[in-house]
Amino acid sequence: MTNSPMFDTMSTMRAMRRLKPDPVPEELLTQLIRAATWAPSGSNIQGYQYVVVTDRAKMAEIAKLWNVIADFYMQMTGDSVPPNSTAEKMRKLRAALRYQQEHFHETPALIVFCYDSGPLYDAARANLREIISATKCLGGRRILDTMRHVRRTGEMSEAASVYPGVENLLLAARELGLGATLTTWHLMFESEFKKILGIPRRVKTFAVIPVGWPVGRFGPVSRVEPDDVIHRDGW
Ligand SMILES: Cc1cc2nc3c(=O)[nH]c(=O)nc-3n(C[C@H](O)[C@H](O)[C@H](O)COP(=O)(O)O)c2cc1C
Repeated sequence: MTNSPMFDTMSTMRAMRRLKPDPVPEELLTQLIRAATWAPSGSNIQGYQYVVVTDRAKMAEIAKLWNVIADFYMQMTGDSVPPNSTAEKMRKLRAALRYQQEHFHETPALIVFCYDSGPLYDAARANLREIISATKCLGGRRILDTMRHVRRTGEMSEAASVYPGVENLLLAARELGLGATLTTWHLMFESEFKKILGIPRRVKTFAVIPVGWPVGRFGPVSRVEPDDVIHRDGW
């Protein structure tokens, strides 16, 4: 294993769900967002936007929704043990999720990762003639293929312009000693969630990251061995 501060940070960046209620200074939250913006984005359009929630009334409203989602998730997953986990790991995960659920209203800060596709669609509309003309060089079958995949390509491109920033933020939080977790549960109730925060319809949300000073300690992540997941020179 390479020994370097960055590898240490990456290999000990666990999901930290137990957070102290103490506030996180505004400058640190801005520093986290700055780290997120350093990540790549499609065509460097930087269509990402972030909603930072620290207001206690808003947090209480979100906590109510979180409560519903957490109950749903716990009941849905029951005592099941997914691949690459164990009953003991799942017991710890559920205990952490319960703690987070019960203390959600005390979360010091929430960072909501959003993407505003408006500017991208405007640019595509302005460029429509060139786009249509460019497809000619693909030939019939590939034009059809491109059209078939256009929606997935667009959605993937938006997500791929957001999630690298999520990872950057998680790493920056770990580096600053802050606890954070990537969550996507809210997507099940995205419109309700967006309404609480007044996020416009055209803006999509991708992740909600609770951030705060951790109650527990950071520790090594538990993951599969690279050789178990590498396919050399083909699947
Ligand atoms: C796509 C994705 C969605 C996730 N959604 C949630 C979530 O909604 N709630 C949550 O508590 N953790 C969520 N996680 C965090 C995972 O549970 C976590 O990464 C995994 O259990 C490994 O935990 P560890 O880093 O502590 O080892 C999500 C992770 C990913 C990659």
